[in-house]
Amino acid sequence: MAKRIDISGLNAFYGSHKAIEDISMTVEPRSVTAFIGPSGCGKSTFLRTLNRMHEVTPGGRVEGKVLLDDENLYDANVDPVTVRRTVGMVFQRPNPFPTMSIFDNVAAGLRLNGSYRKSELNDIVERSLRGANLWNEVKDRLNKPGSGLSGGQQQRLCIARAIAVEPQVLLMDEPCSALDPISTLAIEDLIGELKERFTIVIVTHNMQQAARVSDRTAFFNLAAVGKPGRLIEIDETERIFSNPSVQATEDYISGRFG
Ligand SMILES: Nc1ncnc2c1ncn2[C@@H]1O[C@H](COP(=O)(O)OP(=O)(O)OP(=O)(O)O)[C@@H](O)[C@H]1O
Ligand SMILES: [Mg+2]
Repeated sequence: MAKRIDISGLNAFYGSHKAIEDISMTVEPRSVTAFIGPSGCGKSTFLRTLNRMHEVTPGGRVEGKVLLDDENLYDANVDPVTVRRTVGMVFQRPNPFPTMSIFDNVAAGLRLNGSYRKSELNDIVERSLRGANLWNEVKDRLNKPGSGLSGGQQQRLCIARAIAVEPQVLLMDEPCSALDPISTLAIEDLIGELKERFTIVIVTHNMQQAARVSDRTAFFNLAAVGKPGRLIEIDETERIFSNPSVQATEDYISGRFG
């Protein structure tokens, strides 16, 4: 359950372009870590190296280590499909499978992974929808299409789908950027609940959101346009927002650039 992530010497490339350089950091289990930094500094790229999604992009290549507890996700004998089940992901735009019912959206990952009895599947789908704080809104229309939900509901559906397969880590790339303030608060509350069970990493451009939901914050930046993104500092969120060690972090969080 809820494993610790230990990253060392990580570089990621798109073809010959190095997008992020020499990143080393740890992510504590059952905590929320926020990634912040200006557009193009490699936050999404870095996030996708944590579940081996980066290499799916043509030309995508990774150097360095990502240990999940003691296992390096990039060891030759590790199956990337298993990694993606263990390290789940929620994207910026809610992306439910459009032709599938609400029920089938949540059950999709389970059905891929094995065979479940109908009653087992019902239980897991209900538990996941409850876990995503969506059950009460959809329990009477489970066989209606997932695409018929509001944006905020669709994002909670995607979270339910992600947690149904019991991952140990949940990666979220700007999960609220397409949502209204009420849905955003609902997702933020949910993140607070989910961290009891999962290790969570969230990318956000919203400083208040980082301050509200995360335990630790990592600030990324580019030395110059075209240069790879780097980790500038990572610390307790309270400290990053009150008294960061690096001037560039201070400038970014106070809105002086980026
Ligand atoms: N599919 C791709 N092919 C080539 N280069 C890419 C690709 N995706 C991203 N990049 C480049 O990698 C760098 C990092 O991009 P990335 O999307 O990780 O940044 P980001 O910090 O998530 O930005 P944003 O805040 O705008 O989402 C950028 O220079 C970007 O142009
Ligand atoms: Mg991004």
